[in-house]
Order: sequence, then structure tokens, then C-alpha cells
Amino acid sequence: MSAIDFESLWHAVINEPHQRDVFSVHGPDHWRRVERNGCILAARTGANVDVVRLFAIFHDCKRENDGHDPGHGRRGGEFAAKVRGKWFDLPDPDFQRLYLACERHTEALHHSDPTIGTCWDADRLDLGRVGAVPDPYYMSTEFGREIARQGVIHPWLHLAVPVLGAGVGALLGEG
Ligand SMILES: [Fe+2]
Ligand SMILES: [Fe+2]
Repeated sequence: MSAIDFESLWHAVINEPHQRDVFSVHGPDHWRRVERNGCILAARTGANVDVVRLFAIFHDCKRENDGHDPGHGRRGGEFAAKVRGKWFDLPDPDFQRLYLACERHTEALHHSDPTIGTCWDADRLDLGRVGAVPDPYYMSTEFGREIARQGVIHPWLHLAVPVLGAGVGALLGEG
């Protein structure tokens, strides 16, 4: 059981002033799928689940448009730093992983740290929404490569249930 109140955190971050379009492909529906993907991956990669779930919330929350938007990852990390200790907390080494995962999630290719690699794989496995197929080459973890090769994540959905509850199927949001 996490010490972080994720539901309150979701509400707080979503209700922050933002520049997202309605139904942005980088908006909260995407964040939820990244969270789900991350919880599935973490069951086998050994990633820190709190960091992965926080990455899902923060990594795209400071996007200013749905295009290239350089620096949006760093802005997300800076925002996490600003509300750390108020809306959530993490030990320093874990927060450093969260910050780096947010800051570098678009520019970097792979990371050998299982938690950072899991964050990036979780994000990159949600490319179907923009008409792109996840490519095993861009995955950092072996489990991420396995899912990318399979082309669907549904066979592993049950792995997220211990963290997100049995309602995780309702979070699929694909369409
Ligand atoms: Fe992003
Ligand atoms: Fe993303």
C-alpha cells in the first residue's frame, strides 16, 4: 500500500491551470494508460511503482501544445519538485529518478535503471492513440520489448490489478 494519496494527486494536477486542448492526445486519458502500462511493466521489471505512477501524472502535465513542445518534460519535473512535500513525497534517490524520467522522456533513447526504463516504456507503449505502433527497439526493458512485439497489452492487464484494482479494465480507454 502506497503512502501517496494518488486520487487526490490526480485531481490536484488535473485541476491546475493548463493549456491542453479538450481530449488532447497527451492529456489525462493518456496519463491513465501510462499508469496502467507502468503498473503492468513494474510487476516484472522491479520498478518502483510509486515513481512510475508519479511519472504518469507529471511527465506530460506541463505540455503547452500537442506538437514537439521541447522542454515539456523538464517543466513537468520542475512542477513535481514544486509540489513535492505538499501533494506527495518521495525519498531523494526516488525523486531524482522521477525528475530524470520526466526531464529526458522524449530526448533520451534507453535507460538501464529499471524504474526509469519502465517509465519510458509505459509512455511509449501508448503510441496507438497517435497512429504509431510501439517498436521493441525503443523499449528499455525486456518486458517492454515483449509487449511491443506482441502488439497488445491486454494479455497482461491482470498484472496491474494488485495496484489499480479490479476496475483497471475500465481504464483501457482505447478506441
Ligand atoms: Fe511527453
Ligand atoms: Fe506521454
